[in-house]
Amino acid sequence: MTTPRTSPPPAAADSPSRGTAPLLSVRDVTRTFPGKRGRTAPVRAVDGVSFDVAAGETLGLVGESGCGKSTTGRMIVRLLEPTSGSITFDGRDISHLGQRELHPLRRHLQMVFQDPHASLNPRQTVARIIAEPLLAQGGSAVDARRRAADLMELVGLIPEHLDRYPHEFSGGQAQRIGIARALATGPRLVIADEPVSALDVSVQAQIVNLMARLQRELGLAYLFIAHDLSVVKRVCNRVAVMYLGRIVEIGPKERVYAAPAHPYTRALLSAVPLPDPVAERARERLTLLGDPPNPAAPPPGCTFHPRCPKAQDRCRTEAPVLSGAERSGAGHRVACHFPETV
Ligand SMILES: Nc1ncnc2c1ncn2[C@@H]1O[C@H](COP(=O)(O)OP(=O)(O)OP(=O)(O)O)[C@@H](O)[C@H]1O
Ligand code: SF4
Ligand SMILES: [Mg+2]
Repeated sequence: MTTPRTSPPPAAADSPSRGTAPLLSVRDVTRTFPGKRGRTAPVRAVDGVSFDVAAGETLGLVGESGCGKSTTGRMIVRLLEPTSGSITFDGRDISHLGQRELHPLRRHLQMVFQDPHASLNPRQTVARIIAEPLLAQGGSAVDARRRAADLMELVGLIPEHLDRYPHEFSGGQAQRIGIARALATGPRLVIADEPVSALDVSVQAQIVNLMARLQRELGLAYLFIAHDLSVVKRVCNRVAVMYLGRIVEIGPKERVYAAPAHPYTRALLSAVPLPDPVAERARERLTLLGDPPNPAAPPPGCTFHPRCPKAQDRCRTEAPVLSGAERSGAGHRVACHFPETV
């Protein structure tokens, strides 16, 4: 078993590990997909994205469907290769490593997927599924099975169920198996791509709480992807909001939730119900205009301008860059010509 970590995750800021190198550094990363059979323009799914994740920290990555969240996550675990930019993990540039060079690093970089049943091989027992990453790293079958039993217990499942098949488990239990599999090799960073979106609302909180506990106990870092800001609030130290392939706002959780500076973040937050009925009745609801634009033909200037209630002439021609306005406080950056000043 991995030794539980007793100290809390490091305090989060813009550069999360001040004085030490971050565990993960993503710098100006882009990923372009070709247009469909040459008939449509290429899609720049991720367009110049940069962020860091410190050891033991969770960065929430949030945005509407199609904004490039999964593509970002898949590049970090190198299921996809970046078109340009760099991804540095533990001080090593992994952006263009080949499979052989990536192999020893895979144990430190794991992924949890959205649909637990779809991501588990229905013809394999749970023991085999959880042991697979360990066996791939050269572990013995006996050790891998023992470790799988320990991991079942760690994620709240019954170790005696190791020889069952995925269909014998509920969605929430299947996601616990997916998490156990991701933890098998003792990773330092887990990319969780919408790990609760496919689950019943009643089960979502249990899985988020489990992931938060595992982070505390094991000192994991997460990139926690969701389309809903309320899902990541419980678990993240910092949050990044994506729109059409770009990060439009990033900062410490306390800042972004209490004082969102980008109109898009404000709209996303205004859709989150509040637990207090009085606050819920008074909640300001901002409706986004129209649908997200076609990513193969993004609008000029600020790509959010066709939907932005604050858009002005400058927004239609000049793309805003992510910058830290003085008022925004430590590490809170926004890509908007006219950010909110609250
Ligand atoms: N393999 C691919 N080939 C072509 N286009 C792709 C491919 N993968 C993603 N895209 C496109 O890239 C853009 C970003 O997709 P991505 O899956 O990263 O978004 P997402 O934010 O994860 O969305 P969702 O919330 O629906 O999961 C979309 O326009 C999508 O259609
Ligand atoms: S730059 Fe302009 S269009 Fe873009 S979010 Fe800011 S105010 Fe809205
Ligand atoms: Mg996705």
